[in-house]
Amino acid sequence: MFQRLLVPKVAASLGCKSFRNATIMSALPQARTYSIKADNASAQPLMDIDPKLLKVQRTESPKKLLPAKDLIFGKNFTDHMLTVEWSSKHGWYAPQITPYQNLSLDPATCVFHYAFECFEGLKAYKDKDGVARLFRPDKNMARMNTSAARIALPTFGSEAMVELIKKFVALEERFIPEERGYSLYLRPTMIGTQKTLGVGPPRSALLYMIASPVGPYYPTGFKAVSLSARSDIVRAWPGGCGDKKLGANYAPCIKPQQEAAEQGYQQNLWLFGEEGYVTEVGTMNVFFAWKTPDGKKELITAPLDGTILNGVTRDSILELAREKLTKEGWTISERKFTIGEVAKAADEGRLLEAFGAGTAAVVSPINKINWDGGIHGDARDIHVPLQEGKEAGPLAENFWKWMAERQYGDVESDWSVKVPKWTE
Ligand code: COI
Repeated sequence: MFQRLLVPKVAASLGCKSFRNATIMSALPQARTYSIKADNASAQPLMDIDPKLLKVQRTESPKKLLPAKDLIFGKNFTDHMLTVEWSSKHGWYAPQITPYQNLSLDPATCVFHYAFECFEGLKAYKDKDGVARLFRPDKNMARMNTSAARIALPTFGSEAMVELIKKFVALEERFIPEERGYSLYLRPTMIGTQKTLGVGPPRSALLYMIASPVGPYYPTGFKAVSLSARSDIVRAWPGGCGDKKLGANYAPCIKPQQEAAEQGYQQNLWLFGEEGYVTEVGTMNVFFAWKTPDGKKELITAPLDGTILNGVTRDSILELAREKLTKEGWTISERKFTIGEVAKAADEGRLLEAFGAGTAAVVSPINKINWDGGIHGDARDIHVPLQEGKEAGPLAENFWKWMAERQYGDVESDWSVKVPKWTE
């Protein structure tokens, strides 16, 4: 059995095409192999995504727009979808925009069995002049490539994909809500489509994008959330893939989230290790603001050590903080810190604020953390200050405002990418 499992891997590493060859090779003595079959020198290179090849089939039954107040995150979708197919022989095929429709996939398709799936989330906004704008789409596409590569799915030219996203958004422009706090959430997704139960790199894939008009995550403004911090569950670990946006990272977090909800907490604060390192919150990065024991103001988030998602909002907040807060005496830190340090800061009156940061909610203030006290400790609540009569601390409020100004183009910045109007 072990031999049978091993052979395809050895074969793959030696560039073997067939299992039969692999069986023969595995019987040979372990010698250094010089005989890897090189690609034909005249072989065509694989095709990258080419926006110039885009084919568009418009819907014949355009949807009615929903009033902004009825928009629920990720529930309603626009008229069209973008698809780009890939095969290991050809590379990327001509991109297509078609009416929004079901995918038809064989039940043996590898995505259903071995979770060959990664995704992104980014938003298109409408500015005061009615121009559609994307927020840092290059960052999302760069991250999608690292996610895809981690699960042996194909990569693509990020710039070409951004061009396609712009075309798609231009076509769907009427779905971008005008109201402040509203946007069009874009969900690029890649799946392995090879029809096989064999465990190996998919030889075919589909990159597609759908879009959902969305309102503010908290329709009533900020609503601070309470968290459950447990030592017996882990979201990601060193050497794993917690820094990649894989669907497989999300499904296992739902059960702990349900358990937190049963206890009256909205989200999990994800800890790691006996030390109780603070890593992420729910599906977001997490920031704490405190005074250090020697009295310095510090804004802190976990470092990108392979267990933390390289959030676009996280990165933007760090850059804004360095630009705006350093001069006010803040230290901005990406370093490990523990829930024990957070609890001590709260006990000593040094804890100032905490909030999650992600594309969906932008910033999500935190008001309470129930910590189980670690492996040998006693459970306790950690209270996080908010402003008097408000559901957010001052930093969360400011970051939300500074982000919105750039997302909606009130403040011009390189982060905001204008989308040219649709032309056939
Ligand atoms: C985000 O907060 O941006 C997320 O990634 C949540 C998304 C999975 C809905």
